[in-house]
Formats: sequence, structure tokens, C-alpha cells
Amino acid sequence: MIVYLNGKFLPLEKAKISVLDRGFIFADGVYEVIPAYDGKLFRLTEHLQRLENSLNSIKLSNPLTEAQWIEILETLIAKNSGTNQSVYLQITRGPAKRNHNFPEQVIPTVFVMSEELKSSPPTNGMKAITCNDTRWQNCDIKSIALLANILLRNQAVEIGATEAILIRDGYVMEGAASNIFVIVDNVAITPPKSKFILPGVTRDLILEAMQAAKLPCKEADIPVAQLEIATEIWITSSTKEIIPIIELDGRKIGTGKPGVVWSQVWEIYQNYKQQLFFND
Ligand code: PDD
Repeated sequence: MIVYLNGKFLPLEKAKISVLDRGFIFADGVYEVIPAYDGKLFRLTEHLQRLENSLNSIKLSNPLTEAQWIEILETLIAKNSGTNQSVYLQITRGPAKRNHNFPEQVIPTVFVMSEELKSSPPTNGMKAITCNDTRWQNCDIKSIALLANILLRNQAVEIGATEAILIRDGYVMEGAASNIFVIVDNVAITPPKSKFILPGVTRDLILEAMQAAKLPCKEADIPVAQLEIATEIWITSSTKEIIPIIELDGRKIGTGKPGVVWSQVWEIYQNYKQQLFFND
């Protein structure tokens, strides 16, 4: 695997950073995950905009211009194998003597890697559990500080489920690494953007695509009780696309199989990906 680190493309084994890097010491950094289909980055503008927002939130200026980012990302995809790839990029506040204060001279660390993204065939769905959302109040920042998310995800995995659905003050927020949609009375509902969820690029695309297809959908708060009456539940992310949850806390959702609205939206999503190739 070839990765990018601070201006250089090099084999993964050769990529080294200081143990004093604030990413390592404090998780002081942000990241993005961008899918690339057949060498073409999907929804790149939206991912770079969210990166800019995350950097602004942690008061770190973007070390690269948009043109430089595109050049790096495209070069890295070309250097790695896989028709479809998942690109991971991370920026930290860089190496400095350990001190909670921001260092005076910041030389951010920029790291990018790309791995093969297995194409997602129509799925049989996944199991999930609900968990109390133990994360902080800045979940809109795509922070590399993911300890709460990984502990929550692990709770799900330990009991044979795949994702943890996070509940804050009686309302459904999102998954440990995904956004959520529930279908209630034939309307797809996803929580509005706030400090308590990551503004998912896939989430936005699904809303846009459903509106264009005149399928009923809306952004609204989801009281936890709606999980009991939902006929479908989906989780969404750049790498997983749209996955139906067929069992929640050991209880079947709908028929216990991927729902009809899910399969319609899944088709539409695949068409959007195809459009990438026609828009050249
Ligand atoms: N995670 N919410 C959280 C907490 C996430 O970590 C993610 C994605 C999403 C979905 O966002 P998007 O549709 O833009 O991928 C929502 C990535 C994939 C990850 O951490 O690997």
C-alpha cells in the first residue's frame, strides 16, 4: 500500500511520525473518509467542505488548497489497487512538546491512505442495538477522537450485532459510525443536523435523491419510541452506503428482511454512482 505523508508518497511501512504528534498524544485532529468508484472520488466537494468545517471548529487552518488535495487524492488512488477504494485522510496539529495549550508553531501532520472498497451487493441487512450516547457535544466535528464511538460499537459487536444506535435524552441520534433513517407511516425520517450528529454526506445525498424521486422523506427529531413502530430502519455511511437494520435489540424490524423503500432507495443510490461516469 502506498500512502501520503507530509508531502511524500511512500510505502505504508516507511511512513513514520513523531510519538509526540498531537494526534497520538491528544487525538488532536480531524479526518475524512471518501469513497472512489472506478478511480473517481464520490461527492468530493461535500467531503472537502466538511473537512474545512471540522478544521475551522478545531482552529486549525487547512494546510493544503483544494487543488492540492485533489492532486494528492487522485495520485494516491492511481498508486493503489482496487477498482473502488476508500480514501482515509487525517490532519493533526502536528508534533509538539506535550502541553494542552495549542503549540505556537504548528506544522500539521497530513496523512492519507487508500484501501480497496469491496462493492456492496444488495445486503441481507444487519442487527443493531440501542445504546445511551456517551459522546461529547461536538459530534458534528469529524474528530479522530473516537474512543466513545469504538466503545459503543464494541458493545454491539460483543452481543453479535453490527452497529450501536445512539440515544440522547430520549431521541435517536445516529449510529456509532453511521447516520440513521427510520420509516414511520411510509415517510423516511432522519434527525436534523445539530451538534449531536455528524452531518453525513451519504445522508444528504439520500435526502436529495429521495426528494428528486418524490419519495416521502423529512428531517425531524426521532423520539426513541418511534423505533418500536418503524417499519424500516437504515444506517448510512460513505463506505457502507445504505444498510437495512433487520433486528434491533433482538426484535425484528418490519418483516425482518430488507424493506421495499430501502430497495428503491438503494437502486437510486447506485444510479447516482453511475452518473459519475456519465458526467465526464
Ligand atoms: N464514518 N456518523 C458518524 C459518527 C460517522 O462516523 C460516519 C461515517 C457517518 C456517516 O457519514 P458519511 O455518510 O459522510 O460517511 C455518520 C466513517 C465512514 C468512518 O469513520 O469510517
